[in-house]
Amino acid sequence: MTFDRAIKIAPSILAADFANFGAECEAIEAQGADWVHVDVMDGHFVPNITFGPATCAALRPHIKGVMDVHLMIAPVDPYIEAFAQAGADVITAHVEAGPHIHRTLQAISAAGAKAGVALNPGTPAHAVADLLDLTDLICLMTVNPGFGGQKFIDMGDKIRSLRAMIGDRPVHIEIDGGVDPDTAPLVARAGADVLVAGSAVFKGGSVDNPGPYGDNIRAIRQAASGVYT
Ligand code: DX5
Ligand code: ZN
Repeated sequence: MTFDRAIKIAPSILAADFANFGAECEAIEAQGADWVHVDVMDGHFVPNITFGPATCAALRPHIKGVMDVHLMIAPVDPYIEAFAQAGADVITAHVEAGPHIHRTLQAISAAGAKAGVALNPGTPAHAVADLLDLTDLICLMTVNPGFGGQKFIDMGDKIRSLRAMIGDRPVHIEIDGGVDPDTAPLVARAGADVLVAGSAVFKGGSVDNPGPYGDNIRAIRQAASGVYT
């Protein structure tokens, strides 16, 4: 993975057909997705359960590009190796998931993946101030994690603070929750470069009719880039 700050659209397969994940990943990549965002939930850290490392490993051959694994689980550390072995390019852990996020980020890097740290809406930007040299990505939640399709929470000031804190470091700012063509420009202008979108990408399409995925991805990208067609 090379680093750049160009806008990247990362569809969340939380909004895909769970019985057809492999084909869904192939469809969104063929329709222009830059990364594939994979939401892992444990029913403990968040009030919903999705899937674990075995599903990630099964998905891997169906994803050509970046597999971006967002862990909404606690504890995290016992599972890092399994997600790295499953082929995750990015593994993101929540700062709220335990007392040792510094150790967790070290362990993710040692396992050979890019290390991401996620912040819930109620967690201030300065929670990552001492982690900036250990992390490759900061995921800023713009919904409370656990479910797709929730209303976007405007975190513009927090994004701008993070962007200033990051300075020249090669750290992505990822926004997760409620991103669509209306909200994408707000977060892109504030300094985000990776935009996760579930409902706004998958709506109206299917593996048999993937055209709407492409239309939805283009609409978000164009809105984020300030290009309206
Ligand atoms: C929420 C997940 C998000 C979610 C985004 O806990 O981390 O990735 O699926 O879905 P939308 O875009 O529908 O808000
Ligand atoms: Zn996510």
